[in-house]
Amino acid sequence: MDLADLPSCRACALSETRQRVVVGSGPAASGLLVVGEAPGRHEDEGGEPFVGRSGQLLVRLISEELGLVRAQYFITNAVKCRPPHNRTPRVSEVASCRPWLETQIVALRPRWLLAVGNVAARAVFGFDDGISRTHGLVAHWGDVPGVATYHPAAALRGGPNVVDVMRADLRALRSLGI
Ligand code: URA
Ligand code: SF4
Repeated sequence: MDLADLPSCRACALSETRQRVVVGSGPAASGLLVVGEAPGRHEDEGGEPFVGRSGQLLVRLISEELGLVRAQYFITNAVKCRPPHNRTPRVSEVASCRPWLETQIVALRPRWLLAVGNVAARAVFGFDDGISRTHGLVAHWGDVPGVATYHPAAALRGGPNVVDVMRADLRALRSLGI
């Protein structure tokens, strides 16, 4: 697949309600690739991933635990178009979009992966179990190692405990040599 065709993809019904395909942003050879769930309203309007409140929290935690600022890693989502009313993407939508994620991983050749939230954890690492069982484990996409953590939206709802768990998951990622 040609990433030049991603901004005009119509492979699933999310193309009918989106404003913009949110491809991702960051340096081409960044080392760390962060994969979220799907664009929200701000991302759908602006075309950049993780710019809303969730994104700000995630960027802060990555900075504090991994010492990386946003410009030092690539961020994208498992699903590139906003689901209506921010509903969870359907399994079929994640499946439709997965070839794009795979194409991006092959093109970016990351050294480490961070999957953010249950949808991304399943899409990137193929977990059957939910995020409460898989967060913090070292997993792989091909031979690229990584870790999954909770979505920052869960931390915004769930308070400091979720933030502490996310910090511990990020330290598990750091222990891979970032
Ligand atoms: N939540 C996500 O998972 N991704 C975004 O880009 C924004 C919010
Ligand atoms: Fe294409 Fe993915 Fe958007 Fe569906 S969500 S239209 S598969 S880019």
